[in-house]
Order: sequence, then C-alpha cells, then structure tokens
Amino acid sequence: MSISEIPLIKFENLTKDFGQIRAVDNFNLEVYEGEIIGLIGPNGAGKTTAIKMLANILTPSQGRILVKDKNNKLQDVVTNPKILQESGFLIDIPNFYEGMTAYELLKYFAKLQNYPKNMVESRIDEVLQLIELFEWKHQKVKIFSKGMKQKLGLAQAIIHDPQIVVLDEPQIGLDPKARIDVRNILKDLQKNGKTIFLASHMLYEISEVCDKIALINLGALLEFDKISELEKKLPMHEIRCTLLDPIESKDVGPILSMLEDKLNPYLIEASTYTNQQHHILYDPSIQGLKILYDGKDDTQDKILTTLKKETDLKIISFFTPKTHQLERIYMDLIKRDEVKRRKK
Ligand SMILES: Nc1ncnc2c1ncn2[C@@H]1O[C@H](COP(=O)(O)OP(=O)(O)OP(=O)(O)O)[C@@H](O)[C@H]1O
Ligand SMILES: [Mg+2]
Repeated sequence: MSISEIPLIKFENLTKDFGQIRAVDNFNLEVYEGEIIGLIGPNGAGKTTAIKMLANILTPSQGRILVKDKNNKLQDVVTNPKILQESGFLIDIPNFYEGMTAYELLKYFAKLQNYPKNMVESRIDEVLQLIELFEWKHQKVKIFSKGMKQKLGLAQAIIHDPQIVVLDEPQIGLDPKARIDVRNILKDLQKNGKTIFLASHMLYEISEVCDKIALINLGALLEFDKISELEKKLPMHEIRCTLLDPIESKDVGPILSMLEDKLNPYLIEASTYTNQQHHILYDPSIQGLKILYDGKDDTQDKILTTLKKETDLKIISFFTPKTHQLERIYMDLIKRDEVKRRKK
C-alpha cells in the first residue's frame, strides 16, 4: 500500500451502546489527507457520539478509530491518545469560562496543546483576525453573543494549527454572513493542507464545502460518497421552472395533465418513498412548476422545448436546485433505510 493510500482517519467497525441504545452501529469510514468530509443525519443519528469517540472523550463499545502518525502508521486513539495532538475539536456549543477574555482563553488553549510559546502571541492575533473577532481580543467572553462564542469555539479548535480539524455543528447559531465566513475559513484550512471532518444539519453548507458526505441514520452509515455520485444513485431528479405570471387556478389542472402527457417519455415514476403522486406539480409559492424527470443529460433541453412549444407560459428560470437535490437524497435514503429496517 502506498503512503497516499493510507487513510488519515479510519473508523473501523465502530459501535457505541448506551444501555439498550445503540448510538453508533458498526460504522466504517476512511478519511484521506486534505479532504473535507461532512457527517449528516437526523437528530439522534449518532454524529456527536462518533465525534466524541474520535476525540477520545467516549470509548467505543466495539471497534476502534485509527489516526495516521508521522511514520504513516495507524494508531488507535484509545491506546495511543497522543496521536490526537495534531487534531483540534469543536464539540457541542462551547461552554467557556466567561470571566476570561478572548485572548486569555486562546492563550490557555494554546498552552494546553503545547503550542510553541514564542509563537503564541502572533498565532492568537492571526486566528482572531481569521474569525473577525480581533477587535474583541481583550473583551470578556461573557459579553459575547452566541454566534461570537461559536466562532471562538472554532478559534479554540484551530489555535494550535492542527492537521485535523473536527467540528460538531460549527455553524449552529451563526447568521448567514458568519456562516459564509466559516465556510471560507474551512476552505482556507483545506487549501493549507488540513483535513476537516464535520457534522452538520445544514445541508446547503455541507454541499458547498464538503468533498464527500457520510449520511448516517440510527448510528449506521447509509452512504458515503461525493454529492454528484449520490445524485446518480438517486432515480429521481427535479427541475424547477419559475414563471413570469402565475397560472390561474382553473387552468392548473388542464395544463398539468396536458404536460404529463406530452412529457411522458422524460418523466419517471414518482418514487414510492415520497408522498408525491404526480410528476409535475404547480407550486404557487414559487410561482413555478416542479418536474420530476429521468435525470438524463439531454432530457432537460427536451422538456424546455416542449414547454415552450405546447404552452404560453413565460419561463423566467429553469434549473435543478442543488440544495433541494441534496435534501431529496437525504430524505430518500433515510426513508429507504426505514423501509428496509421494517422489513427485517
Ligand atoms: N451519554 C449518553 N447516554 C445515553 N444515551 C446517549 C448519550 N449520548 C447520546 N445518547 C443517545 O445516542 C443517540 C445518538 O446521539 P447523538 O448525540 O450522537 O446524536 P446526533 O446525531 O449528534 O444528534 P443531534 O443532531 O441532535 O446532535 C441518541 O439516541 C442519544 O439519545
Ligand atoms: Mg449532535
């Protein structure tokens, strides 16, 4: 095996039981150097539990987590916790000692992580500038807003310039501007060769920043792939077509059934896993059509041509919504998992 084939982090048959609850269920995953991996799943899926085992805060009931050392040997985080010195963690909403200033806190964490003393001062400034809290350097944390504390949590995780950055819901409580900032910080970290493993509910954020997503439900890994690959696995794609003028309610039925007929070769059976009965819907809230089609490359053009030819609708946009696609993948995979489990 060549060095680049050795994963930086390896989750191996990882399982965690809390009494009767199996929070993480035989989880296997490999993360390679320089990747940004997003762990997504519904509440209670086991994301935080998996991350806490990676941080060696919780011990696995079965299986193990391995991290590559400088000699390219995989080390178990339980038996060799020193391997985590090159990692930084943000887990849950940080609960800082509020009487300290941002500067004092970061200095404290840098010391905890044995960051070289002669570099601490400049590193603190650098990180505070990165998270745009430099002006607040000497202010006490107790006057910080929730979002500012969350950003300080990110600063704490990266203060010692770790190779691996592990973040549990880094964007929780952040406003849109701060979420964009965090996204850019993560991309910058990646550019500097860091590897990032994050859990999030924010599908859009995940799709914007992550190379691959790991979808988990009830502790088990359902899928792990690039979003584009996951989309290919999904037998359903959606086109949104927004209109200049709304369709009058009396015309909606006739237009939709005419279009179902004309577009029939390009549409697919509505998934048995969704509530949607028809292939084409008119959604007044977006003043547009939602069309479930076969996802083939040339089909979009054929659908657009048919819409122009067969209707008087004035089309102002025609696109496949990316976030929506990810939501659909997410819902579809979780629903399939539930159906499969029920059958067991
Ligand atoms: N210390 C604990 N004791 C008992 N059960 C726990 C403990 N921690 C987590 N659990 C259970 O393990 C399961 C997974 O929880 P976990 O916090 O890992 O989920 P999560 O994916 O992070 O959810 P969320 O999206 O809500 O943060 C849940 O059923 C939870 O109740
Ligand atoms: Mg959690």
